[in-house]
Amino acid sequence: TPKRVPVIAGNWKLNPNTLSEATNLLKLIASNFLYHRSASDPEVVIFPPYPFLMPALELLEGTGIKVGAQNCALQESPGAFTGEVSASMIRSMGCDYVMLGHSERRTLFGETDAKINAKAHLCLKQPGLGIILCIGETLEEYQSNLLESVVEMQLKKGLAGLKAEDISSSSLIIAYEPCWAINTGIAATPQQANTAHMAVRRTLTKLFGADVAQSIRIQYGGSVKPDNIEDLMAMPEIDGALVGGASLTADGFTRIVDGA
Ligand code: G3P
Repeated sequence: TPKRVPVIAGNWKLNPNTLSEATNLLKLIASNFLYHRSASDPEVVIFPPYPFLMPALELLEGTGIKVGAQNCALQESPGAFTGEVSASMIRSMGCDYVMLGHSERRTLFGETDAKINAKAHLCLKQPGLGIILCIGETLEEYQSNLLESVVEMQLKKGLAGLKAEDISSSSLIIAYEPCWAINTGIAATPQQANTAHMAVRRTLTKLFGADVAQSIRIQYGGSVKPDNIEDLMAMPEIDGALVGGASLTADGFTRIVDGA
């Protein structure tokens, strides 16, 4: 089986506050990446808020860093859906990924597995648009030994109706983010994360067969920092990281990419 290319993604969430702060951060990241990276580096993707996608695409041009959106509409464009942004719009700008099912979307914005699944189908209709599907259990579920059944259900429902041939190595990434590790400063240990990733890959094998399951990259997310990235990436089932808070400084994000 071919080696999985590691993928480091920065999820900016609702940050920074203004366009000028965003362009400053993008320029700093771009200058860190323009000269220092080689082909063996991990794939790098940044997920800014919608209004900062175009500046990100422009300012990161030539750095090799890809850009993705943090969500997309449940509807296709064109249409009368005020306030929404479609997968087609996102792809047409030049974005390479859409993130779906982040735990904050699930818990704060009523995103269900069924909605996430419908969005996944819309994204895969856009040639060249990949998905990062976020899954992960709550602390209560973790303590009740429900990790495996929770991620299995999220994967089955979130990926329902997708066939092995719909999924190429770049079109689907799974981000395993235990809710208890998100923005808490308490990352899963490398061993905990690796065990969870094995459960994720078992489910992917059931859904798509061993070959496809082996090709899908599984990122860990939750309090990833420059000082824990190396130990996480040393685990065989951890193929990258989805980074929140630590992706909001050029220095922190660059050190994480270097550590990977
Ligand atoms: O999507 C990444 C995120 O949920 C993790 O956030 O701030 O704990 O790295 P953070």
